[in-house]
Amino acid sequence: MRFSPNLLDEIRSRLLVSQVVGRKVALKKSGREFRGLSPFKAEKSPSFFVNDQKGFYHCFASGEHGDIFTFLMKTEGLEFPEAVERLAAEAGVAMPKPAERNVEQEDQRDRLYRLLEASAAFFEDNLRTDRGSEARGYLERRGLARETIKTFRLGFAPNSRSALSAHLKGKGFSAADMATAGMLISGDDIPEPYDRFRNRVIFPILNLKGRVIAFGGRALDKEAPAKYLNSPETPLFHKGHILFNAARARAAAHDKNRVIAVEGYMDVVALAEAGFVETVAPLGTALTEDQLKLLWRFAPEPLLCFDGDGAGRKAADRAVEIALPLVKPGFSVAFAFLPDGLDPDDLIRQRGAAAMTEVLEKTRPLIDVLWDREVKAQPVGTPEQRAALEARLKALTESIQDATVRSYYSRELRDRLYQLGRERFSAQSRGAGGPSVQSSYARPVAAPDWRGRERHRLNGPEKRFPKKPAYPGAMTASPELVSHFQSILPREALILKTLINHPWLIDEHSEAVAVIEFASPAISALRDEILAVHARQNSLDSATLRTQLSKSGVAKVVDLVARTITHKSDRFAEPDASATDVEAAWHHILALQQRQAELGLALKNAEEAWYRDCTEDAENRLLDIKRQIARETAAEQMDEFDQPDDDNSDFKRAG
Ligand code: UTP
Ligand code: MN
Repeated sequence: MRFSPNLLDEIRSRLLVSQVVGRKVALKKSGREFRGLSPFKAEKSPSFFVNDQKGFYHCFASGEHGDIFTFLMKTEGLEFPEAVERLAAEAGVAMPKPAERNVEQEDQRDRLYRLLEASAAFFEDNLRTDRGSEARGYLERRGLARETIKTFRLGFAPNSRSALSAHLKGKGFSAADMATAGMLISGDDIPEPYDRFRNRVIFPILNLKGRVIAFGGRALDKEAPAKYLNSPETPLFHKGHILFNAARARAAAHDKNRVIAVEGYMDVVALAEAGFVETVAPLGTALTEDQLKLLWRFAPEPLLCFDGDGAGRKAADRAVEIALPLVKPGFSVAFAFLPDGLDPDDLIRQRGAAAMTEVLEKTRPLIDVLWDREVKAQPVGTPEQRAALEARLKALTESIQDATVRSYYSRELRDRLYQLGRERFSAQSRGAGGPSVQSSYARPVAAPDWRGRERHRLNGPEKRFPKKPAYPGAMTASPELVSHFQSILPREALILKTLINHPWLIDEHSEAVAVIEFASPAISALRDEILAVHARQNSLDSATLRTQLSKSGVAKVVDLVARTITHKSDRFAEPDASATDVEAAWHHILALQQRQAELGLALKNAEEAWYRDCTEDAENRLLDIKRQIARETAAEQMDEFDQPDDDNSDFKRAG
């Protein structure tokens, strides 16, 4: 639906940004603005500002900027129309009526919503009455608190073929609507239509707005043909598009930046009761593409949690197949597996919430699960068997639609294959049974490329791309960071050192600084921090910048940057270099950095092409690029000796 600018302005004029934002962020008045800790990035000193006059918020830590609508979209994962609808209601602004032609359809949907709501209330009531005593006892035995039953609106469908339909009829609903809503089973060959849900504990299924759209029912009778029965597809319910508990999980997921998907209704309920409200489940089917996309609206790396049994393993396999083609930069899935024979509900009841927390902390990235599965699928003891493994991995890699992620997978799997071969080889030569090959992150010291040649030593990929952590989330772990520090490239450190010693460069070139492509994540993080400090306070002097940086936890990198550089030609980075020299050298070094980034990309593409096609052409291109990198690296090193070093030079060596 399109909204008129008038409508949006009307809503904006009635709600202060500070009022909407203030519900999520503790704000303090600061001059004409409000100030608080960024909801987008963890930080210790507030760099998030709200300006009611201008009607926007701005976050200097993350660069996020917007109005009340974007705020709800970003912090609660709402779609634009949902945000508008919610704020309109809050502001007391009437929403325009849907267009005429939809009225009939809207009417039917409206009736179905009301019918399902009445059904949910009926089931809830039944759980509280005499009729529901067996169901109440059952839920009690399963350990559910009364509060949980209320929150999830659990209910009981009596053991009757007509209790619900009689009740709905009394409320004026037609049998046709009952059937359309999935509550009544009817048809030409059914002489007497009857209630779908009988003698079952009822789990209402809500849409993202929290309205009842379907039900799941668990049989109380052990002899019942199906343990769980779900509503059929209806105009309101498409089971592949929705997740159980999605509405409640969404808000919690945004706060925790995590969403957990489990297999069963009872698991969701038990997890929510134990404090993991950010939990959802598919509705009696395996996870679908649409459901994964929905999960990605909640958090970038949904945690898929599978039962510790054969069915759980199979479900995990299917999830791998679903997720792999769809992963994209920053968006993936992680896996957690329950101990043998338990589902999350069992685990929490038997061993407590702490046991569940432990499971949720032992997550495994997609690539690990995929690798394990393929390595265990067939023997891999001989070169031929490993070649078959390679073919399987290659096929899987090729199913990834995103080119960047695909190339990272192909690199990483290639390294693992190589490592696997080495482990096998050394195990054989030691005469041992062979080490475990499971999810080994140990990498060869000087990894050869795909065909076993040693990679280029001067500026080869393993130098340009520092040792990768297990997965993006692991980058915050400090041992990983330490290894990142060690792989800082001299040129990148030099760029940062120059910025720190000559902060006026940031005033003049902040855009250019913001887009430099660094190979080292630590350097990249330091650059971001410098920009954040600079955004809070322009025209910084070097000492202030350093003090600010030392407060923000990047002090170690600053230190490293200060110490890395020793070349004679790098004196422009020192504090006492003249502005003209700094400026000239700055452009030179940025151009070099840009060039290296381009070559790095070309190398990546060429390697990928070679891996894919294995043609002579591809090989020549790859070698070509490698030679070029070697030439340019050598030239860069020569530069050091070319610099004039006489007394006329403006450069002076510091300390
Ligand atoms: P499970 O058989 O693992 O059941 O089915 P559960 O979740 O542990 O249930 P409890 O603890 O015995 O009550 C997992 C999910 O698969 C779907 C349901 O969504 C269920 O929550 N399912 C299962 C069905 O749709 N139909 C069935 O007959 C069984
Ligand atoms: Mn269970």
